[in-house]
Amino acid sequence: MIKYNHNLLSLYVHWPYCESKCPYCDFNSHINEKININDWIKSYKNQLLAMKEELIENNINFRHLDTLFFGGGTPSLMPLKIVESIIDISKKIFGFKKNIEITLEANPSSYESKKFIKFKQLGINRISIGAQSLNNKYLEFLGRLHNIEDVKIALNNASEIFDNISVDLIYAFHGQKIHDWINELESFLNTYNLQHLSLYQLTIEEGTKFFKDHKNGIIKLKDNDKAAEFYDISNKVLSDFRFIKYEVSNYAKNGFKCKHNLNYWNSENWIGVGPGAYGRLWSAKKNKNRIEYQNYKNPKTWLSKNLLQPDFEKITKLDTNVSDIDTLTMGLRLYEGLEISKINNLSIINFKSLKELQNQNMLTFKNDVLKVNKKHMIKLNSILDYLISH
Ligand SMILES: C[S@@+](CC[C@H](N)C(=O)[O-])C[C@H]1O[C@@H](n2cnc3c(N)ncnc32)[C@H](O)[C@@H]1O
Ligand code: SF4
Repeated sequence: MIKYNHNLLSLYVHWPYCESKCPYCDFNSHINEKININDWIKSYKNQLLAMKEELIENNINFRHLDTLFFGGGTPSLMPLKIVESIIDISKKIFGFKKNIEITLEANPSSYESKKFIKFKQLGINRISIGAQSLNNKYLEFLGRLHNIEDVKIALNNASEIFDNISVDLIYAFHGQKIHDWINELESFLNTYNLQHLSLYQLTIEEGTKFFKDHKNGIIKLKDNDKAAEFYDISNKVLSDFRFIKYEVSNYAKNGFKCKHNLNYWNSENWIGVGPGAYGRLWSAKKNKNRIEYQNYKNPKTWLSKNLLQPDFEKITKLDTNVSDIDTLTMGLRLYEGLEISKINNLSIINFKSLKELQNQNMLTFKNDVLKVNKKHMIKLNSILDYLISH
């Protein structure tokens, strides 16, 4: 029996194309190709209409969309007509909350930053810029097509247009010196007035060019101790600049946490449309279940399958255990922790391990909130592994 009432609703729109494929990236992203704009609008529309039916069919009580997120791929490359149509259609179908957060991920190339004003006019009120590095040497290593000058232009442009700007950075490369990183970060934060930052340590993902290079010894990763040192110092710098760390890799100024991602971490309801996107809804029908909607990954397959009528690759009723483990895994990413009443079957937690983790000061469990202690957040994966009953 589902105990917790999930009543927030988000919409994720995936745009699968990029200028080029970055060697570290395992996202569903493909090199730009010629597309038929009207066909793409039709396929998105069919999926959005189908999801409205699913909300009704599952008695899901929602009052308009809380957030809308254009992710990718590189959504700043989307033809404006597609962005405009998706915003119009979803507003008509689901309605928008008055303070809806609408984010678009953008690359800092000059072509894309020229479009910022148009995005704002269409209703985008939060821009997430993939600067990735503050150092030309590492931008080249990451295979990015932009340089520091482009980042500067994009951020100056964005600052004139948006009140809510987020930047993504990747760090802790092999060979990166800690004082260089601190200096870069501090001078960056002194120069720009940002509301949000996502700092990711480089990970090697299977199927990427970096995966092969790593296997062949061409690139190396930082060892865990060094990576932890980078993590701690980054937390300190960000805290000095009055950013609140609210998730493993995410920092926000007061009032600027990303509402959309919070809905994922809090296991709320979200709809996912576009190639490879997935959505999850809590059905309110008699046998309450969480339902997952998975889309075809390949852009051409997705487009042709959804052009005349909506077609998801798979619709699955999630097993309670699977869903509970997901709720726990996502919820513990948050610094404020997880309300334990969100877990439907507590047998997924090994309470003997929980006690030990409490004794080692890694976890706290107070007033029904389970929380990983800040200092140990970097070890979240091993903590979860120990905590979950196998
Ligand atoms: C979908 S991408 C963002 C959109 C945009 N295409 C871009 O690259 O700027 C999401 C973010 O995940 C991060 N990311 C992707 N692959 C990563 C990896 N292997 N290691 C660390 N961070 C990664 C990058 O910071 C990237 O901005
Ligand atoms: S990191 Fe961003 S730009 Fe690079 S391939 Fe992935 S989605 Fe595209």
